[in-house]
Amino acid sequence: MSEFHSPVMIGKCLNYLNLQAGKVYVDATLGGGGHSLAMLQQEPEIKLFAFDQDVEAINEAHHVLSGYNATLIQANFRDLRTQLAFRKVKGIDGILFDLGVSSHQLDETERGFSFDRDAKLDMRMNRESGITAETIINEYSFEELKRIFKEYGEEQASGRIARAVEREREKHHISSTLELAKIIESVVGVGSKESLKTKVRIFQALRICVNDELAALSSALNDAINLLNPGGRIVVMSYHSLEDRIVKNTFKDAETDCICPPAIITCICSHRSKIKMLTRKPITADPAEISQNVRSRSAKLRAAEKKWGKQ
Ligand SMILES: C[S@@+](CC[C@H](N)C(=O)[O-])C[C@H]1O[C@@H](n2cnc3c(N)ncnc32)[C@H](O)[C@@H]1O
Repeated sequence: MSEFHSPVMIGKCLNYLNLQAGKVYVDATLGGGGHSLAMLQQEPEIKLFAFDQDVEAINEAHHVLSGYNATLIQANFRDLRTQLAFRKVKGIDGILFDLGVSSHQLDETERGFSFDRDAKLDMRMNRESGITAETIINEYSFEELKRIFKEYGEEQASGRIARAVEREREKHHISSTLELAKIIESVVGVGSKESLKTKVRIFQALRICVNDELAALSSALNDAINLLNPGGRIVVMSYHSLEDRIVKNTFKDAETDCICPPAIITCICSHRSKIKMLTRKPITADPAEISQNVRSRSAKLRAAEKKWGKQ
């Protein structure tokens, strides 16, 4: 297993991608390059474009994939369409999204993703741009904080935690992960399972907000479906319910023919089904993999194939 990141459900991803020599594939979330390497090892004659917004992932993957034919692109996958157009790629035959953060990002204390390691509240996947969690925590209004905790963390105690943040920052600037963890504990207590889960949810909410993860995902999935050539495959692995809901609903919309409200008798929307689902229910990792790689426990894989003919 790579120390940078252990790739999840490699065999299943490869099966659904159905790689073919000479065709064009995209790894939208390169990370440590584990999935990209597996793709290139299985079919070295593919043309692979791999994205990551984190320069450290790109640097790591340069080593891992040296000797293979891959184009590494440091960019947000929300810019998939323009980045590929810039490289004269008009259509793709498969794309993989392995969402979230890599183990390397979580383990690197100074990135500020973990609540049990003292670091600056940063949480940006791309450290060259965007606002940090520190800015959000210190400058956003009570109402905004409450919304972020509720919407992106699905946290019951959102209001009370937002209020506690507000009280604390009146006394001093909040700059570290441990300071924020203590504020959360001041509301939900220390040491219980529920307190731990609350910290996970609040840190997840901030990470999603800092990186605008849900909007980027939604727009990239639609672009990816449109870019797929007939018979091309899209495979997405998500790690929490907010992401999975977006994947499920985007696939459902793309699979549906007419989306007119039921009261309309003759279709006026001209919406046509673009994909066929390959997974009715999300695919999960086998117990053997889960016992080896705890991160795989929450993974949900959904896959679809672009339809042939007029859409
Ligand atoms: C779970 S890791 C991928 C691991 C990879 N499949 C492997 O085998 O090593 C997710 C990666 O996607 C990147 N990422 C997340 N959201 C992104 C986005 N919107 N655009 C580009 N990269 C993104 C993260 O920086 C991280 O490196």
